[in-house]
Amino acid sequence: MNMGGKTPSLWQRYRNYFSVGAAVTPKTLKTHIELLTHNFNSLTCENHMKPSILQPKEGEYRFKAADATVDFAMEHSMLIRGHTFVWHNQTPDWFFLDAGQVADKALVVDRLKNHINKVTSKYNQQIYCWDVVNEAVEDKGSSCLRNTKWLECLGEDYIKIAFELAREEDPNAKLFYNDYNAVVPEKRDKIFGLLKDLKEKDTPIDGMGIQGHWDIYNFSEDDIRKAIEMYASLDLEIHITELDVSVHDWREPSSLKVPTAKMLELQEKKYDEIFTIFREYSEVVKSVTLWGVADDVTWLDGFPIKGRKNWPLLFDEDHKPKGSFWRVVDFEG
Ligand code: GLA
Repeated sequence: MNMGGKTPSLWQRYRNYFSVGAAVTPKTLKTHIELLTHNFNSLTCENHMKPSILQPKEGEYRFKAADATVDFAMEHSMLIRGHTFVWHNQTPDWFFLDAGQVADKALVVDRLKNHINKVTSKYNQQIYCWDVVNEAVEDKGSSCLRNTKWLECLGEDYIKIAFELAREEDPNAKLFYNDYNAVVPEKRDKIFGLLKDLKEKDTPIDGMGIQGHWDIYNFSEDDIRKAIEMYASLDLEIHITELDVSVHDWREPSSLKVPTAKMLELQEKKYDEIFTIFREYSEVVKSVTLWGVADDVTWLDGFPIKGRKNWPLLFDEDHKPKGSFWRVVDFEG
């Protein structure tokens, strides 16, 4: 693509399709400011809107880091995806305890309502959608719901309760269920069953967040297409919420300090394929968020193997566009 020497902007390239987001930390808002302002028109806090950070102790709210992201987004006319209210991780234990014992349902519901109320009334003009419930579904085996403290305290209805509270407290926000492995058939079918059931029970849910923590070897085009079609058939908007494409097979050890040419070639092919699919389904896919900005800061350097360097994003460690970036912006139209 000839851009007269200027690197195209991702979000502008996709303005007729969907918004293009990045997950940020208070640090990357500063260190990656040029990439962010040029390429993205949506932000998600990688960690700073999770309950453990917003309300580490009951009634003690800490909004400083979230505020920095919201201010940045407002200053640069970006959207913000809120992430997240109900999750089994990064949620303090006090939510579920009463004088050292398991708290009863009414108390936990009340705490969740207060949390959602406080957060959404602070940001209701700025945050246009929320991942209300994150990762509630079990990956394998016959049970659908993951065994969590939310399930233990509130019972099987807890997802519906969370969506109802979120709608009550922030009637204008779009409300999403969000999960990983959401295109893997076994888990996809469970998530689909859960969402169908929620819809049938008139739960106020607007969308499905497909996280998209993928890699260069797995997650086929067919599975991605099929998952989008299934979730969209429930009249749900689709967001790709946490996209990155690992260059390693899941738990394959590696001590590489730079990616191999083969890895980058496969990654380019993968990014090309998946963005082609997202464009094809842009009637229903309304947002695509990368889980990070550039390869110098990625959670995958510590997961699932600590210290294994990864290069999952569209910009390299020096913030230069990778081959994958050029493939993603290279299409007719
Ligand atoms: C999950 C969560 C995110 C984040 C990532 C790792 O996908 O939804 O909030 O914690 O793991 O960064």
